[in-house]
Amino acid sequence: PEPGWTARADIVVVGSGIAGLVAALRCRPHGRVLLVTKALLDAGSTRWAQGGIAAALAPDDTPAEHLADTLVAGVGLCDEDAVRALVTEGPDAVRDLIDLGAAFDRADGGSIALTREGGHRRRRIAHAGGDATGAEISRALLAALKDSGVEVIEHALVLDLLKDADGRAAGITLHVMGEGQPAGVGAVRARAVVLATGGLGQVFSATTNPEVSTGDGVALALRAGADVTDLEFVQFHPTVLWLGEGARGQQPLISEAVRGEGAHLTDLAGERFMVGRHELAELAPRDVVAKGIMNRMRETGAACMLLDGRHLGAAMWESRFPTILAACRHHGIDPVTEPIPVVPAAHYASGGVRTDLHGRTSVPGLYACGEVACTGVHGANRLASNSLLEGLVFAARIAAALPGDLANAADAPPARPGPGAGALLDPARRADVQRIMTGYAGVLRGADGLAAAARELAALPGAGAAPGVEAWEVTNLHTVASAIVAAARRREETRGSHWREDFPERSDARWRGHLVTRLARTAA
Ligand code: SIN
Repeated sequence: PEPGWTARADIVVVGSGIAGLVAALRCRPHGRVLLVTKALLDAGSTRWAQGGIAAALAPDDTPAEHLADTLVAGVGLCDEDAVRALVTEGPDAVRDLIDLGAAFDRADGGSIALTREGGHRRRRIAHAGGDATGAEISRALLAALKDSGVEVIEHALVLDLLKDADGRAAGITLHVMGEGQPAGVGAVRARAVVLATGGLGQVFSATTNPEVSTGDGVALALRAGADVTDLEFVQFHPTVLWLGEGARGQQPLISEAVRGEGAHLTDLAGERFMVGRHELAELAPRDVVAKGIMNRMRETGAACMLLDGRHLGAAMWESRFPTILAACRHHGIDPVTEPIPVVPAAHYASGGVRTDLHGRTSVPGLYACGEVACTGVHGANRLASNSLLEGLVFAARIAAALPGDLANAADAPPARPGPGAGALLDPARRADVQRIMTGYAGVLRGADGLAAAARELAALPGAGAAPGVEAWEVTNLHTVASAIVAAARRREETRGSHWREDFPERSDARWRGHLVTRLARTAA
């Protein structure tokens, strides 16, 4: 659609989770920064993050050990240079957050309290408010935003990238809802565009992600012709509270930190099925635990497994896990006196818009950080609590690169609005996309199911809906779902969070590489 109004900035940042907020704050010294976000500033995934933020902060820990654990979890597909940047810059980045006002939980002597999560061989997860780490980080960053001079537009759904005649990013189009701001479809002209739009969990029926995580940034990047990689690696969190058959939408997360503090996974008969499956048992990397749960559910015909944390005691539950305790009690489960029924649910996109070590995508002037990006730190399976850290470290890396990059960039007017989303899908198709993806492209995948998913997604009726936020969202979900299915069909092996029942082994000879997804085709 033709923009009805135009705004100007030097740098436009899209998204207001940890990555977007840090990018906006850090870029501010380099020019006029406009932050646009789809709903309210704190509506994204960051504020839901429970377990914490991983960094080698303990005296007995080192970045080298954090690097080693990250590489193991990523099953051969991490970019080691990106991981090295993450783990070596991570501890100072967390200290900077503390200087900014984020209050992390403290141990008795006053040092930062650290817990364990799956795949970590050391205690290196810093947390806040017990299990409300993301909420505290979000609060501190939003407080810093107030007097920063960063301009903000809320309730603004990004649509497409604007490019100049040389193919360089020159701004975005967006649809703004709400009062007191420019409304309808508009354009922001900018010399650099930073995507920090978060995840895509809403592609699936049941997810830990909030309603707003509809893959808008990946869909924009695909339409803009940017390289998108590793989309097949959608991570399923092993433990969300089981709300019964057919539970839909955002599910209550039961943090890995609950297992980190000693809770056990059992089947309905009380047997600890992860013991003997992996040397770290319940604290194996996330993909291993999710598969262990799914396998045991199939072996026993049960609809869920149990997370038994009764032995942690009431005091521990109340002080360390107040959010989880309240969520469970809200749903009629008391973890102090009974095991929690749990199942896996879609949680995190390890892939996304491909970037270099400074967040540059394959389109000049377009940057990405946070969950929307594929910086190379996660490989085939993200290590728990590395995502808040990634947002923090790589947003700062973009800001560090920008002055040099902008010095070489002409401020040319947009020449092309890009291909656009084409015919928009009817919002009623959202549930269909989610049903197809959960049925055929979830934790367990196979050639026949993935072919059916591709067929059914292509045949979804209802294209031609009137432009509006819900129609754009479902169109983005459909674009991203189709891209995930295409990548999952190509990768004929099991690796990390991509589990092919018809190709149960990993094949380093054939598949130790990345699949680049482009809108019309996929290429190895
Ligand atoms: C959790 O608290 O289990 C989630 C941590 C993460 O996804 O990194």
